[in-house]
Amino acid sequence: MKLLNTKTGLNGELTVPADKSISHRSIMFGAISHGKTTVHNFLRAEDCLSTIALFKALGVTINDDGKEITVEGKGIEHLQAPKDLLDAGNSGTTMRLVLGILAGRPFHSEIAGDASLNRRPMERVMGPLRAMGGDLQGKEGSEFPPIKIDGKQLSAITYEMPIASAQVKSAILFAALQAEGLTTIIEKEKSRNHTEEMIKQFGGKISVEDKTITVVGGQQLIGQEVTVPGDISSAAFYLIAASLLPESNLCLKHVGMNPTRTGILDVLQEMGANIQEAALDQQNQAADLLIKSAALKAVEIGGEIIPRLIDELPVIALAATQANGTTIIRDAQELKVKETNRIDATALELNKLGADIETTDDGMIIHGPTPLHGGIVDSHGDHRIGMMLQIAALLTEEAVELNNPEAINISYPNFFTDLSSIIKENV
Ligand code: S3P
Repeated sequence: MKLLNTKTGLNGELTVPADKSISHRSIMFGAISHGKTTVHNFLRAEDCLSTIALFKALGVTINDDGKEITVEGKGIEHLQAPKDLLDAGNSGTTMRLVLGILAGRPFHSEIAGDASLNRRPMERVMGPLRAMGGDLQGKEGSEFPPIKIDGKQLSAITYEMPIASAQVKSAILFAALQAEGLTTIIEKEKSRNHTEEMIKQFGGKISVEDKTITVVGGQQLIGQEVTVPGDISSAAFYLIAASLLPESNLCLKHVGMNPTRTGILDVLQEMGANIQEAALDQQNQAADLLIKSAALKAVEIGGEIIPRLIDELPVIALAATQANGTTIIRDAQELKVKETNRIDATALELNKLGADIETTDDGMIIHGPTPLHGGIVDSHGDHRIGMMLQIAALLTEEAVELNNPEAINISYPNFFTDLSSIIKENV
């Protein structure tokens, strides 16, 4: 596919798609709670549709009237044994969080994903779930899906996390809600806290003190109204495009501002970006973001900020190719086990367009600024790599062709339409 190009900036207003992490969890919490959950502004993208299909296969009634999604929760004890293999599609969040739910249900189930998900590590979740008494087996004794689960009565654990991962933490929390006793999780670094926030929102009790989380099993959750804010991980592409392109003046409406997700704003501010927050909606932790073009400078990114911007690192690397100086990204080895190896894919594809990126064991060294030129690039079947390459293509004189663009439907089916609506020539 030939990517969009522009000679000028991004202008006007855009509402970015709903948050993917919160959309997944709204279905999961709705399904295990008692009573109706109504989800406003649910993300209808492939990953979250995988979550809906999976909970339907577990016997949950879920309706979409085109506006709201409703989940008819009957409590976790009413989930039913699936008739067939459960399919998580491309979605790591679906598979890992659902493992935490299924480990404690008194039936047999089996879950798989697409080729990419079936190559992603699951021991990080199966290990602690087994320590709670769970019976989970990967394919031929490996840690990879398909995973067979024989549900058991779980018991509480104290678990010190070896990696910073919201998916692992959330899987343990879903298991802990069904376990006997008090579970304690000690995080390595603070990762996104949507599961903790939604336990509270659905009427549960959970204590969070810095990096220590405690939750007691056997709590009854109650269905709620959930309004999903815009996804800062989708906003990231426009934050960086509008900063890099000349004459930009863009407003992104109602973007989620949960502090465990806003690392990108901290980094862009340090790079010299011109981004302002307006119309703060405290109840839904959201704000409008106003972005104007700016000259960017290099930064060093590592340590505790990494989980707060992990999904934004490919597009941050693109920003760094246009920044003055050498940007160093470290402590980001988790990027290697995302939908694709995002360290290798980012460097390989951007270098094809003229960037100067070295890969390291845990990140990248990016020498900027380098002008980018045309070429043929590939999404590697990864939505965020595909969208990052489209933003790169806005900066080139010559055409850029993207192979495997359909991966973008995983999180953002209207990406190209939305982007063309704010390209200045079109406004
Ligand atoms: C997510 C957690 C992160 C993130 C993923 C969504 C979540 O993964 O990369 O896109 O919704 O919990 P890890 O927990 O593996 O870091």
